[in-house]
Amino acid sequence: MRRAKISVIGAGNVGATCAHWAAAKELGDIVLLDIPEREGVAKGKALDLMQCGPIEEFDSKVTGTSDYKDIADSDVVVITAGLPRKPGMSRDDLITTNVKIVRSVSENVAKYAPGAVVIVVSNPLDAMVYTAWKVTGFPTSRILGQAGALDVARFRTFLAMELGCSVEDIQALLLGGHGDDMVPLPRFTSVHGIPINQLLSKEVIDRCVQRAKVGGGEIVQLMGTSAYYAPASGTIQMVEAIVKDKKRILPCAAYCENEYGVAPGQKGQGYFVGVPCVLGSAGMEKVVQVQFEGDEKKLMDESISHVKDLVGTVRKIFPDLA
Ligand code: NAI
Ligand code: 2OP
Repeated sequence: MRRAKISVIGAGNVGATCAHWAAAKELGDIVLLDIPEREGVAKGKALDLMQCGPIEEFDSKVTGTSDYKDIADSDVVVITAGLPRKPGMSRDDLITTNVKIVRSVSENVAKYAPGAVVIVVSNPLDAMVYTAWKVTGFPTSRILGQAGALDVARFRTFLAMELGCSVEDIQALLLGGHGDDMVPLPRFTSVHGIPINQLLSKEVIDRCVQRAKVGGGEIVQLMGTSAYYAPASGTIQMVEAIVKDKKRILPCAAYCENEYGVAPGQKGQGYFVGVPCVLGSAGMEKVVQVQFEGDEKKLMDESISHVKDLVGTVRKIFPDLA
């Protein structure tokens, strides 16, 4: 049986950690690619990871390279290439530099791995997924962004810390863009099936919601660069759902038109927004719709509006991507 092939573009903190989780879970063979100036880093990290195999008991082959020919026949390509933010920067501050990087990476992905499902991680995420879609010309089912898997994991972590229970028993839902206006939804959050508002006060839940929203910034302040363990873990959760055709429902940045009222009736004019999706071997197989109550729709609309503004900035700076 052919092993899955997973290529990770960008061998920095997030990329190398993606390769780490993918190898540890033995999801397939892994290619770690960086620019020619950092080929040694990509090769060195790949070799280092391979040498964990005998200890961690995996046979995944990990290859470091700067040659895009090595990503041929990838089932999944993860794009982590780009600058991370520094203290005081928002994700949006990275837009001009990272569009150029994601654009050149996407051109190569389209050329060398035309059948792959692409998962974009580079920030500002919602604009980078759009860029990858425009440049590759891939069907929207094969272009996804990773943000929700991380953001919801952060929300679950903070709730478990408050409850003193296992993170595994917490189910939560989080929608919207990967900005500080993302939309955690306490009404859809439960602990072993028990609604969260029966276990925690509104004040504590609101505190967890707020901490999840700014969870990326909290880590940037502490470390001077952005997080990578959990972002990579969230990304590999998506990769696993795809290579094992698990049909998992995970929050992903996925293309929406009529879904969630993003761009109703405007064919080809939709946006990539964080929504629950069924993930399988075809990539994004279905967007799952949620019925809103109270101010949930307003919060989602605000987050979608931020995504539209970001994409508007990309279109303004790079008119050929409009
Ligand atoms: P990093 O600086 O450690 O690694 C970035 C890597 O990209 C470097 O090795 C660099 O040489 C490489 N690179 C730059 N241009 C390239 C090109 N044209 N082709 C191939 N590789 C290229 O940064 P880190 O921490 O790994 O973050 C990567 C990106 O992921 C950033 O944009 C960051 O903001 C984003 N991020 C997104 C998250 C999410 O949840 N969506 C979470 C965490 C980070
Ligand atoms: C994060 O949320 C910076 O997007 C990155 O950690």
